[in-house]
Amino acid sequence: MLMPYAEPFVVRSIKAVVDRLDEPLRSAAVAYARQEGQHHAQHRRFNDLVVARHPVLRLNERWMGRAYRVIERRSSPDFGVAFAAGFESVAYVAARWVASRHTTLLGGADPAARDLFLWHLAEEVEHKSVAFEVHEAIGGRRFRYAVAMMLSAFLLAWFSFANTLAMLAVTGRILNPLAHLRLLFWSISFVFDLLPAMAVSAMPGHHPRDLVDPLFFDLWLAEHRGPQ
Ligand SMILES: [Fe+2]
Ligand SMILES: [Fe+2]
Repeated sequence: MLMPYAEPFVVRSIKAVVDRLDEPLRSAAVAYARQEGQHHAQHRRFNDLVVARHPVLRLNERWMGRAYRVIERRSSPDFGVAFAAGFESVAYVAARWVASRHTTLLGGADPAARDLFLWHLAEEVEHKSVAFEVHEAIGGRRFRYAVAMMLSAFLLAWFSFANTLAMLAVTGRILNPLAHLRLLFWSISFVFDLLPAMAVSAMPGHHPRDLVDPLFFDLWLAEHRGPQ
């Protein structure tokens, strides 16, 4: 639910500094912005379908829109890029976390929604380094990247929690203890993956390419890519 709000900010932040980049990073940044543009366009369609079915979720959409608008208005262009780099690090951990439990999380899911999520996460793995390299190329400091990454993780956690509670309410499962237990278990497991990865990423000298990619998404992309 968050993507149509977080990703446009990320795209605008990278586009704003493209002219300060040299090749080949400049072309990589343009391709990255195009890829992210596709992500949030498809997620917008997904949200429209979900909100049409459960109009009360429009309230959450309004809050998400407001949060990113405030951050964008108050950030410098360089902080926007640091936010993009931090957002990518969090997205990468999310992809890795889903890869190792995709049958539990997405088994039995609507095939179109499942493919949307897996396609998106596969491309997050594919472009995991681009925003970070843009941040470094414009002279971004590690501290700023770490702060932006924490902000990005906080927004993801907060709005995922709010949206999940809202979805449980509208689907009549808010009082189901099993749903809450499952959520608690998944949240703890994600935090255990996320925090060490964030700590490592904030260390001087660390580059996203040092992280080992899950094989699952390579295979998934190979299977779903049309003829080149
Ligand atoms: Fe994306
Ligand atoms: Fe991304």
